[in-house]
Amino acid sequence: MSDVSAGRPPSAYVVVLGNEKGGSGKSTVAMHVAVALMKAGQRVATIDLDSRQKSFTHYIENRRAWAKHARLDLELPTHFCIARVEGHKVADNEVAEFSAFAKAVETLEHTHDFVVIDTPGHDSYLMRLAHSMADTLITPLNDSFVDFDVLGTVDPATFAVTGTSHFAEMVREARRQRRVVDHGADQRLGRRIDQQDGRRHGAQRHAR
Ligand SMILES: Nc1ncnc2c1ncn2[C@@H]1O[C@H](COP(=O)(O)OP(=O)(O)OP(=O)(O)O)[C@@H](O)[C@H]1O
Ligand SMILES: [Mg+2]
Repeated sequence: MSDVSAGRPPSAYVVVLGNEKGGSGKSTVAMHVAVALMKAGQRVATIDLDSRQKSFTHYIENRRAWAKHARLDLELPTHFCIARVEGHKVADNEVAEFSAFAKAVETLEHTHDFVVIDTPGHDSYLMRLAHSMADTLITPLNDSFVDFDVLGTVDPATFAVTGTSHFAEMVREARRQRRVVDHGADQRLGRRIDQQDGRRHGAQRHAR
């Protein structure tokens, strides 16, 4: 566990659960990863970006309530649920969502070892932002070609991978952005956020 942060700047390590296929196990794995990290003695923060379902948030609330009820000293993460903003103007929604995300990162960056981020099973601004922050992306997958189809296409006779899907392309682009931001060396989480802010302003200027 300590090897993960060896040689890195003092900043939380980001684990993102992502897959555009709904019901693939993202929230379930997020809970298990967060609890396993806490049991290993790590300081863990959690962020729920699926503010419609809030499965991750409800799990943590239930864990807290159960610990109180059963008088158990259960480990609990510092938790944030970032609401999706659904106003009329997409650009304004993104500004509000970015600001809430950046505020959470600022709060946890230097006081936690890991941040585990659960994302919704559909494309969204916050989901993309999280993927561009990931040090590790975990994509749970059901054992089915129907589920694999969200990641890539395969030749039906040879099973050779013949193409990448929308989600895989989004991840590829997020990784590309990350390499640009990091300039070959892992950057602090706050710096990655600053860079994304700069990109967002640039894109908005371009769109005008
Ligand atoms: N490893 C597993 N084995 C069997 N069932 C699982 C496993 N992981 C999750 N499930 C079940 O699969 C269902 C979906 O899980 P979960 O809500 O974690 O997926 P999700 O990817 O977060 O879904 P969504 O995209 O809707 O947010 C739940 O009923 C859950 O109990
Ligand atoms: Mg979920």
